[in-house]
Amino acid sequence: MEIVDMTDEYAADIVTWRYPAPYDCYDLVDTDPEFFTDPRNGYVALVDKGELIGYRVFGRDGRVPGGEYDESALDTGGGLRPELTGRGLGRQAIAAGLEYGAARFRPMAFRVTVAGLNIRAQQVVQGLGFVPTRTFNATTDGCGFVIMTRRQP
Ligand SMILES: CC(C)(COP(=O)(O)OP(=O)(O)OC[C@H]1O[C@@H](n2cnc3c(N)ncnc32)[C@H](O)[C@@H]1OP(=O)(O)O)[C@@H](O)C(=O)NCCC(=O)NCCS
Repeated sequence: MEIVDMTDEYAADIVTWRYPAPYDCYDLVDTDPEFFTDPRNGYVALVDKGELIGYRVFGRDGRVPGGEYDESALDTGGGLRPELTGRGLGRQAIAAGLEYGAARFRPMAFRVTVAGLNIRAQQVVQGLGFVPTRTFNATTDGCGFVIMTRRQP
C-alpha cells in the first residue's frame, strides 16, 4: 500500500462509494469530486499495485462539528473502498497514512474523530496507539463521536 496524490479519476471513483449501514454516514456521494483534488482540503489516495483502495485526509476536514479541537495535534481520517472493509486491511491502511503524514507534516501528535458506533475503526486505531481523550455529540445530527489521539515520538 502506498499514498499518492489525489487525481480527478480517483476522486470520481470515491464519490460513488457506498458503505452498508451503519457505516453509510461515511458515504461521500454528495461531495463534489473537485473537493478531494483541491490540495487545501488535504486528501490523498491510498493505492495498492496501482489500484485505488482508499483515501486518507489530513487537517481540518478530519474534524466533526461540535468537537473541541486545538492545534496540538494533526487531524486525520479516511476510508477503505467499501468492498475491502471488514477484512483486516484497515490497520495497514491507516498505518500507511500515519507514516506518510508523519514524514510530510511532522506533527507532535495525530488525532482521529471516530463515530461512537464505529467499533471496528476504534479497535484499529487503538491498536495503532491512539487513546480516547473525549466524547461529544455532533452539532449536525447529534451522533456520538470519540476523539482519540496518538503522540508522536
Ligand atoms: C475503519 C476501517 C479502516 C477499519 O478497517 P477494517 O479492515 O474494515 O477493520 P477490521 O476488519 O480489521 O476490523 C477491526 C476489528 O474490529 C472488529 N469488528 C468489526 N466489526 C465490529 C463490530 N460491529 N463490533 C465489534 N467489533 C467489530 C473486527 O473483528 C476486528 O477485530 P480484531 O482486530 O480483533 O480482528 C475500515 O472499515 C474503513 O475504512 N471503513 C470505512 C469508513 C470508516 O469507517 N472510516 C472511519 C474513519 S475514522
